[in-house]
Amino acid sequence: MLIKSAEFVVSNQDVSKCPKSNLPEYAFIGRSNVGKSSLINMLTERKSLAKTSGRPGKTQLINHFLINKSWHLVDLPGYGYARVSKQAKKTFQKFITAYFEKRKQLVSAFVLIDIRHQPQPIDLEFMRWLGEHQIPFSIIFTKADKLKPMAIDRQVDDYMHKLSEEWDPVPGYFITSATKRNGKDELLSYIESINNQIRP
Ligand code: GTP
Ligand code: MG
Repeated sequence: MLIKSAEFVVSNQDVSKCPKSNLPEYAFIGRSNVGKSSLINMLTERKSLAKTSGRPGKTQLINHFLINKSWHLVDLPGYGYARVSKQAKKTFQKFITAYFEKRKQLVSAFVLIDIRHQPQPIDLEFMRWLGEHQIPFSIIFTKADKLKPMAIDRQVDDYMHKLSEEWDPVPGYFITSATKRNGKDELLSYIESINNQIRP
């Protein structure tokens, strides 16, 4: 899929204020600093469409981006950031949960995982929660440029092996690097194929 246009639409903390249109929507979720916003910029080839930062906790709202005037990409705040207050954590959790529970336009979530990390309880719990709520999702391994090819294979094998202990079938996955621009075509083709199934 060629990205012809990518525009910021709206940011808010309230799912009822998200765009009313019925366009299919894909949301990026994962721990703070995993690379959600960077991946959105890489996919859309826009340097600073989504705001990124070396410090975790940059994205604090539900951000809608309109792609090719026909579907939405959604950038969400990260979970598991230790340095925000308990109150802020609760607020985040509330509106992220409400977004996933209520947003009818959501076609699929992408759970981003830093390829260097071993499976973390917070990510495994979040995927479990998505499963319980019957929200389709795939995994996106990020920052693949940080590892050599053999280490990438090993990390992915280990991660999927861990998931196979509780998932059958295991979720689909993509391997990406925002800095090296890896995984862009695979991800965009996947989204395009789902969009085509929805609106042939
Ligand atoms: P929050 O909004 O805080 O939840 O973070 P986020 O998940 O949106 O992460 P963001 O895209 O802001 O990136 C966090 C940091 O990781 C930044 O310093 C990025 O430059 C870096 N980063 C993101 N993707 C990659 C990647 O593919 N490779 C490398 N090496 N660094 C990356
Ligand atoms: Mg972000």
